[in-house]
Amino acid sequence: MAETLAVINCSQLVTVAGARHPRTGGDLRQLAIIEDGALLVRGEHLEAVGRRREIESLITSDCEVVDAGKRVVVPGFVDAHTHPVFAGIRANEFEQRASGATYREIAARGGGIRTTVRATRNASLNDLVKIGKRYADWFLRTGTTTIEAKSGYGLTLEDELKILRAIRQLNEETALRYVPTFLGAHDVPAEYQSRRQTYINLIINEMLPRVAEEKLAEYCDVFCEKGVFTSDETWQILSAARCHGLGLRVHADQLSLSGGAKLAGELNCVTADHLEHTDATGIAALKAAKVQPVLLPGSVYALGSNQYPAARQMIDAGLAVVLATDFNPGSSPTPSMPMILSLACSQMKMTPAEAITASTINAAYSLGRGDEIGSLEKGKRADFVIHDASDYRELAYFFGIEHSWRVYASGKLVQNRLR
Ligand code: NIG
Ligand code: FE
Repeated sequence: MAETLAVINCSQLVTVAGARHPRTGGDLRQLAIIEDGALLVRGEHLEAVGRRREIESLITSDCEVVDAGKRVVVPGFVDAHTHPVFAGIRANEFEQRASGATYREIAARGGGIRTTVRATRNASLNDLVKIGKRYADWFLRTGTTTIEAKSGYGLTLEDELKILRAIRQLNEETALRYVPTFLGAHDVPAEYQSRRQTYINLIINEMLPRVAEEKLAEYCDVFCEKGVFTSDETWQILSAARCHGLGLRVHADQLSLSGGAKLAGELNCVTADHLEHTDATGIAALKAAKVQPVLLPGSVYALGSNQYPAARQMIDAGLAVVLATDFNPGSSPTPSMPMILSLACSQMKMTPAEAITASTINAAYSLGRGDEIGSLEKGKRADFVIHDASDYRELAYFFGIEHSWRVYASGKLVQNRLR
């Protein structure tokens, strides 16, 4: 018999229960909160979710009972866009940006992504796993239980495989759940600068087949941007990825309006990410093809820009918006979803409820896991967080602190704050 666990005395049990599809429009604000709620876990899954009295009637003598102390309980965050496996940091470039240099200027002189590529190529699989475990702990501490994890700092066959294997090992050896994405098209490596098509052919003919054969990724992503990969090149790579059975995601319109959103629509991508410069035509293309926009305000903030994506227009257009951290050593060095919620509300004028939906159930759907995670409903994985707050809006309102008090992944306590 699987072990049982009951959590009682929650001020608000934020279930995000509802229709079994990504939420749009007014539904983004429906969190299906149960006041004085409680839940019952059996093994790795939720057995019952309801009012305290209902759940208490199901508690047997062998059941562990956790008193939430009138705190709020929410689903574990699902962070649908991260770059969590890399060696080295870029605090020096951060300092240069503080002194006036731009992200593009730093990249143009061989820094940026290429700095991290050099360090990551020099690291072993074991080094990457060790470094990655530290970041896994950061994600869990802030209340995230699932992340999408991109490769993209290797840019050779062996180094990309090394990163994807590190992601697989991290998934097995930490409490954090990783959904792997192949991003061999994160940049054209320096040695292929004058032979771009040769590198694209390498991705298509060597990297993608190996990644698919070894089942190292579920998705493929491309950085479609002026000076990185053109729309035509992005098309070539993503079409090949689709033939290998991978789902498609794309970094689109981040630094300029490069037509990435339009392309995402034409290619039927699952998501189009960033979208800081996307216009009404791009939004209409996403809507027509049901592409989910993944908004990453952490990178806008950390790059010192004020060009946030047009979240309100996207919501008004009926898009199933997702929020994510974009955790990476360059443009967004934060693993914290509460920080992203704060930015979403203060800078993009999303409501706290919309932000919660965008970072739980909608994010889960964008990773093909909407039936398994992202809300607290009978039969789903018991991924939930007791935050040290009595109202869910505090998660976006108080910023710069860690809210989580107890974090559970698949029914197991994985972070426990001693206070
Ligand atoms: O999503 N846009 C491209 N990739 C990352 C940045 C990676 C880096 O600077 O290391 C992003 O912002
Ligand atoms: Fe990114």
